[in-house]
Amino acid sequence: MKGLIGILLATVLGTSQPVRGAQAPEATGLAFAVPPPTSNGGQAWKDSHSRALKLLAEMTLQEKISMVTGQRGPCAANSESIERLGIPRMCFQDGPAGVRPALGHTQFPSGITTAATWDVELIYNRSVALAQEFYDMGVHIALGMTTGGPLGRSPYGGRNWEGWYADPYGTGVASFYGTKGFIDVGMQSCAKHYTVYEQETFRNPFNFTEPYSVYKASEQVPISSNVDDKTNHEVYLWSFAEAVRAGTTHVMCAYNSINGTHACANSESNNLHLKGELNFQGALISDWGGTWGTEGFVMGGLDLNLPGLGYGNILGNFYDQELYQMVLNGTIPESRLDDMVVRVLVPLFASGQYDKPIPSTVINSVGAANWPEPAQYRNVQKRSTVELIRKISADGTILLKNTGGLPLKAPKNIAIIGQDAGPNLLGIQGCGKLFRDCDIWNNNGTLSLGGGSGYAWPNNLITPLEAIQAKALETQALVQFVLNNTATNAIDLTITGRALPMGQPDVCLVFAERYVRENMDRNDLSLNIGEWTHSEDIILQTAAKCNNTIVVLHIPGPVIMEAWIDNPNITAVVAPLLPGEQTGPGLVDVLWGHVSPSAKLPFTIAKAEKDYPPNTISYDISVTPQADFTEKLKIDYRWFDSYNITPRFEFGFGLSYSTFAYSEIKSDPTEVPDSTSVQKTNESFVGQQDGQSIYDMVLTITAEITNTGRWTAAEVVQLYVSFPTAENQPPNVLRGFTKLKNMKPDETRTASFPIRRKDVMVWDVVVQKWRYPAEQTVTFRVGSSSRKLPLSLTHRFCH
Ligand code: NOJ
Repeated sequence: MKGLIGILLATVLGTSQPVRGAQAPEATGLAFAVPPPTSNGGQAWKDSHSRALKLLAEMTLQEKISMVTGQRGPCAANSESIERLGIPRMCFQDGPAGVRPALGHTQFPSGITTAATWDVELIYNRSVALAQEFYDMGVHIALGMTTGGPLGRSPYGGRNWEGWYADPYGTGVASFYGTKGFIDVGMQSCAKHYTVYEQETFRNPFNFTEPYSVYKASEQVPISSNVDDKTNHEVYLWSFAEAVRAGTTHVMCAYNSINGTHACANSESNNLHLKGELNFQGALISDWGGTWGTEGFVMGGLDLNLPGLGYGNILGNFYDQELYQMVLNGTIPESRLDDMVVRVLVPLFASGQYDKPIPSTVINSVGAANWPEPAQYRNVQKRSTVELIRKISADGTILLKNTGGLPLKAPKNIAIIGQDAGPNLLGIQGCGKLFRDCDIWNNNGTLSLGGGSGYAWPNNLITPLEAIQAKALETQALVQFVLNNTATNAIDLTITGRALPMGQPDVCLVFAERYVRENMDRNDLSLNIGEWTHSEDIILQTAAKCNNTIVVLHIPGPVIMEAWIDNPNITAVVAPLLPGEQTGPGLVDVLWGHVSPSAKLPFTIAKAEKDYPPNTISYDISVTPQADFTEKLKIDYRWFDSYNITPRFEFGFGLSYSTFAYSEIKSDPTEVPDSTSVQKTNESFVGQQDGQSIYDMVLTITAEITNTGRWTAAEVVQLYVSFPTAENQPPNVLRGFTKLKNMKPDETRTASFPIRRKDVMVWDVVVQKWRYPAEQTVTFRVGSSSRKLPLSLTHRFCH
């Protein structure tokens, strides 16, 4: 049975390693100095809170215990059902880009591809469509979004692609609108992984061996992310604040420790920050195996232990009867248990799922072998969702280089090179439900998403090859392809056309990929990995002989491109990143110019790996491995700007088929009270007066943008703030963006940036509040990327 459980767990946690039956060690470094705050429903859930209290009064002690310990059931985790009180068994299921593991739903574009659109409407609409599919498949709580854990501190991070921008503000905007999308359709959503979860290496779920493990299961405690209070507030907490403000019902604490204490038992981050400062009113749930004990975790703020009794308790026999005894003998006050239960019930009421039951669950998750009901098939994909994700794929495709290769000019002879263009020869299930780790001989096919619990099977993946072939029918173009990256002779014949009368192709499209997945960080930022990709090799080979080579990059983050990017035969480079199942059609829309590219990078692409902050993945092989966040506020572009390092492509960079001119920056100091927060946080600031919120708008910055090219196109306009030198901040920090869509040639439009108090404040570690910079001035810079900021305006705050 243990073997079976191990295999099942592998699909949940991200490895195919066997599970060892180690005993639970004492959780190390438990500190619960800050007591857990009691919920009150906050601004939005007052009524749900009173209803939860009424139900609570009806519950026995054992029922309460069962409500906060995951139960056996069909889903990745399941809560207790109490029929006599009308409480359903709730289903918790991954993940951030689609329901999994199941068929009959959409494989959505990844977080980073959606981020690359810089379009809040698309971010919101994606969440609405995604949440609807969860709902329609009978999932109560979606284990997404990935709202800043990881944020992208390390370019090597194995899960950055699940998330958004390597920047707190950008990810904050995505967290807000993305979470709101879930909430608006009546889903319960989960912001994860809280917090400073920035590497896979040594993340160590309880009692579980992972590919990186050097010690027996649970001998080594998880990596400790050591972060200072200012960095935590200004960089890592920011996007979780936005998820809470948008009304996320759940937050998942991460595997890692924070400053020496397990994230799920860390009273400072859970009780002081999340439930205190951010005023989070929902349930804090553990990542699977993130719980290493009972008392310290309960008092450290963890409400719901998941999967609890699921998976045969292999992830720890915590909560449950241990908690029962602790409440009985007074070690844990029953009032704390009551609040844990209330925090599970409030979202059930607030989402409407108590009053109107959701459709039946069709899932039998891979972790649920002990659950007898088989999975059912229900196809929930809507035609409108397919259109939406095609648009996200196209609008999230970043044009990095264009010396005239794009848009394509009705090519008559097209060569397609690379396994990444075509289908997976083993079918969608052939390489595992999670990892796409195929046999070495297999052509893995186009890379549309990373692996792990963030992976989702596609319903109908249209490859680039298929979409290009369909498009080429319109002009009866010749289409040749070589999908084997090691078939150098075939590639040579195709790109030179030397054996055929029609000669060299008009265009050679080379498809390159870099795979990554949960529980593994990248070892390097190269495009050649393992035995099977050779992606850089095929770019070099093709560009050596084909003078109109266009490179397509399916990548989960930065890759180093110096060996080929300046090659004059490479006339264009596009990066759709990980675009989901409409990968082909979305790409065709950009290549053929049905839409002008408008995406911009959500991370920095360096010229060399050494240009990134050093040691962002800690390989500290000790029983208590440590990761020191020494770069502090200077992640990603902030690092390059601070040390004047020229990147290959900067954060926020992306070309268009059109051109834009920037002029007339202005400010308007009209203040507008916050009306956007669904739940109000308790974040406070120096000089705060009654009724004021840190999310009040204190200023609007505007700039005039003109489309000076010949294409109808969209422009992502970005605003960065420079704080006075004395504040020791990075030179520029992102604090606004807006996408001006469908701009006609010669059209001028106003880009408008609402500036909230928090956007122009810094965290003061002494007073433990936000405050304006001591010199009271900030400079706003507006432009098309983090390094092209032609407009600036300095503003003085009077307070
Ligand atoms: C572990 C992952 O870290 C988390 O994101 C996921 O939701 C759970 N496993 C459940 O599959």
